[in-house]
Formats: sequence, structure tokens, C-alpha cells
Amino acid sequence: MVQWIFHGQCCWEVITDNEMRLIIDPFLTDNPIADVGPDHFEDKLDYLLLTHGHSDHIGDAWDLIRATGATLISTYEIVRYAQERQQVQNAHPMHIGGGFDFPFGRVKLTSAPHGGKIDGEGAEGYTTVPVGFLVTSGGQTVYHAGDTGLTKDMELLRGQVDVAIVPIGDNFTMGPEDAGRAIQMIEPSIAIPMHYKTWEMIDVDPARFIKAVGDAAEVRVLEPGDVLEL
Ligand code: NI
Repeated sequence: MVQWIFHGQCCWEVITDNEMRLIIDPFLTDNPIADVGPDHFEDKLDYLLLTHGHSDHIGDAWDLIRATGATLISTYEIVRYAQERQQVQNAHPMHIGGGFDFPFGRVKLTSAPHGGKIDGEGAEGYTTVPVGFLVTSGGQTVYHAGDTGLTKDMELLRGQVDVAIVPIGDNFTMGPEDAGRAIQMIEPSIAIPMHYKTWEMIDVDPARFIKAVGDAAEVRVLEPGDVLEL
């Protein structure tokens, strides 16, 4: 059994069936809706995945990696920044379209049209192309879309995704109606909204997403701390 635990915004903790512990986009300390702080992970963290360089995704990444020795998985540019400016030792660079088999399962990077700035000390001159992740573990594939607008590329994911986790907060990413169209393209079994409600600017009612998805998938609305078991 694989557990996906939501911690608000785009932050997900993943515990695989071989008991590896991952975190995606660890925005905890300054996240007004996070249910845990970074200390929750300090006893064990194996991998840390970053979709892009914005501060509400990098969050506590560098402190967590220093405290736990977790391996960073991200784009080549973010890995270079982490190694050159944040003293990160263990890192695995990847890029859009590429997949790799890790001890916990397979990760493949998808395109996610969004902003490329990397926030952080010494990050001037660094930029990246944001990505989403297809994480296959325990026989199930979960699509963590990252921050993205609606794109026809999502049609390429049809038939490959069991669970799709998509942003619905509008303004910076897809809104609920576009996110519903994304789910209709992807046709996962389960659809989960993220990247909403964290601040007033993205305070969107998930009922709009449920309506937009229609019969295309079962929508599960998770609150921070809720667990999806696969
Ligand atoms: Ni962003």
C-alpha cells in the first residue's frame, strides 16, 4: 500500500510499500494551511521532489535536505542551483519527458506551463522550466501536475494515470473549470484538487471543480493531514 498525505498547497508526503518516505514541494513553515512543520520529517526522509523554483514549492527544501540527507529529484537547473548555492550533496537531475527507476518506483517529468524563476539566496541567473511528476509506485501511477495552466499535452497522459492531482486555484494556475477539462482529457480513476484556499487570491470553492469534472473521475477533496491510500 502506498500512502499519499496532503499537507496543503502542492505539498504531498508519500510513504511507499517498501517504507521509503518522499516529500513533494515541501512548503510547510510559511504555509498558512499546513498541518505539520518540517520537524515532522526530520527523523526520516529519503527523497525530496521539487516541481519548480517558486518559494511556495521550495519552502523548507534546503533545511530538510541538510537535516535528513534526503536526495533531491528535480530539473537539471534546480539541481545545479541546489549543488552550487545550497550545499546539497545528493541530487538526481532530470528533465521533461524523461523517466527514471528509483528504489521506491518510477518518476517521469511532464511539462507544466508556468513561471521559471528560482526563488532563493544566490538564485540570480538561475531559471528552470517547471514540471509535473508521474510517480509510479506499488503498481499505481499518480500525476502531480505541479503549477500548470491547461495544456493539450495532458491528452498524452490518458490511460496512464490512476490518480491525478491538479491545481484549481486560478490566478497562477488552472482554475477549477480548466482543471475539470484537464481531468476529462486525462481520464484518471481519482481526481484531487490542490493549490487553492492557501491565500485569498486562490480561494476557490472545490465544488466548482467537482462540477467541472462531472462523470470523468471520482473527485476526492483532501484537507491538510488527510491520507489517500492506494
Ligand atoms: Ni509556482
